[in-house]
Amino acid sequence: MGERDLSVVVFGATGVTGRRVAAYLAERAGKVGAAWAAAGRDAAKLERVLDEVGVSAPETIVADVGDPASLAEMASRTRVVLNLVGPYTLYGEPVIEACVANGAHYVDLTGEMPFVRRMIDAFDDRAKAAGIKVIHASGFEALPPDLAILLAAETARKRWGEDLDEVDLEVATQAPAGRLGLADVVSGGTLQGTAEVLAGEDAAQSTDPAVLIDDPERAAEVRRRSPISLAPRVNGRGDVIAPMTPAAFINPAVIQRTATLLTGDQGRAAPPIRYREGMTMPGGAATLPLRYVAAAALGASQIGFRALSRTQPTVRNRIAGVLRKVLPSSGFGPSGSRLEQWAWQVVVEARTGGGHYVRIDVDADGHPGYLATARFLGEVGLLLAEDGATPERAGLLTPAAALGTAHLDRFQHAGVRFSLSS
Ligand SMILES: NC(=O)c1ccc[n+]([C@@H]2O[C@H](COP(=O)([O-])OP(=O)(O)OC[C@H]3O[C@@H](n4cnc5c(N)ncnc54)[C@H](OP(=O)(O)O)[C@@H]3O)[C@@H](O)[C@H]2O)c1
Repeated sequence: MGERDLSVVVFGATGVTGRRVAAYLAERAGKVGAAWAAAGRDAAKLERVLDEVGVSAPETIVADVGDPASLAEMASRTRVVLNLVGPYTLYGEPVIEACVANGAHYVDLTGEMPFVRRMIDAFDDRAKAAGIKVIHASGFEALPPDLAILLAAETARKRWGEDLDEVDLEVATQAPAGRLGLADVVSGGTLQGTAEVLAGEDAAQSTDPAVLIDDPERAAEVRRRSPISLAPRVNGRGDVIAPMTPAAFINPAVIQRTATLLTGDQGRAAPPIRYREGMTMPGGAATLPLRYVAAAALGASQIGFRALSRTQPTVRNRIAGVLRKVLPSSGFGPSGSRLEQWAWQVVVEARTGGGHYVRIDVDADGHPGYLATARFLGEVGLLLAEDGATPERAGLLTPAAALGTAHLDRFQHAGVRFSLSS
């Protein structure tokens, strides 16, 4: 990567998430000596939105996904593009093309798995040849689980020379007091992304735990060993565990790709991890059966999505058409002080083939999807822009394969703390 005048560009800085990434960089970039810019398609809106959230960007850039020259110009000036322009199924590819062609690392928050599969097929070889990292799914899904499991895997290799065999991951969240509306939980951008996945040719890939595995034999092994369960259950501590919400299909695909890429790099072929994840249902006044019913309801919506993703294209297209109209769109989502009043934890309990146990805890503040995500994405941008701060590896990577664990402590600045507990 030659000399560039910018370290990080936030593209889509007017969006619900993009404006928070810009706010993080406005606080943090100066402290690590990084130059950054906010980019969007509409200069006036960019100024207005950043002003509304009290962010002063050192520079703004006008770029539009429909104007390849503007994307090339943006990508050629910076070491890293953080892409917040979704749905990625519709808008992601030209941005990746510009980054790979012009030598910038690329990071996004997509959970649209068929899109990720397509991008691996289209860009992996070129990105490797150019020494560029293209990193998808760097939001709440799937960066914290991916990095925590990598830390567990590295710990097990170091202590016992063994690979992970089984991983259980549980997430607990504490929301702000009071009633939660839809806008407190999910953004229009995310909901519209779901409609685009459903409309896509390869919608069925969106629920496949092996969608990101390149080798068909390995993919079949992953599906056999680690199918995605949508049933509620009660864990050993008596907590009711619901399927991961809002989507149970993103983390499994990402962590299986990480394990496959990293053992492959080391010239080894460990069996796929048997991976199970879920959300701890908050206790409060609810009895165990009530919590179980609520967990089953969360699972039912995902069972419905999985069934729908496998139906005829005509049916999916009709439903996607309705969803595009009835679901909230861009700009809808959590905002203001309610973004701050969240806390969440991830617990990873891993066992090796030899029966050894490792536990990793992640403890974090801020709305998982739209504030903590924005902050740690900003930190990812800063890390990637620093020479030698991340592994040499290039290509279409997962967050953990791209970032490694050497600088996990840097995520404390984003309010996310990783610890090796046993
Ligand atoms: N996995 C996770 O944890 C996670 C968390 C958060 C978000 N996400 C994903 O991140 C994406 C963004 O989410 P969001 O809620 O922030 O979305 P949003 O509020 O809808 O923002 C979308 C952004 O894209 C911009 N945009 C749209 N069309 C464009 C074009 N032709 N050229 C340039 N910019 C364009 C919009 O600009 P205008 O303002 O000019 O329209 C806006 O800045 C979504 O796909 C969402 O699913 C994932």
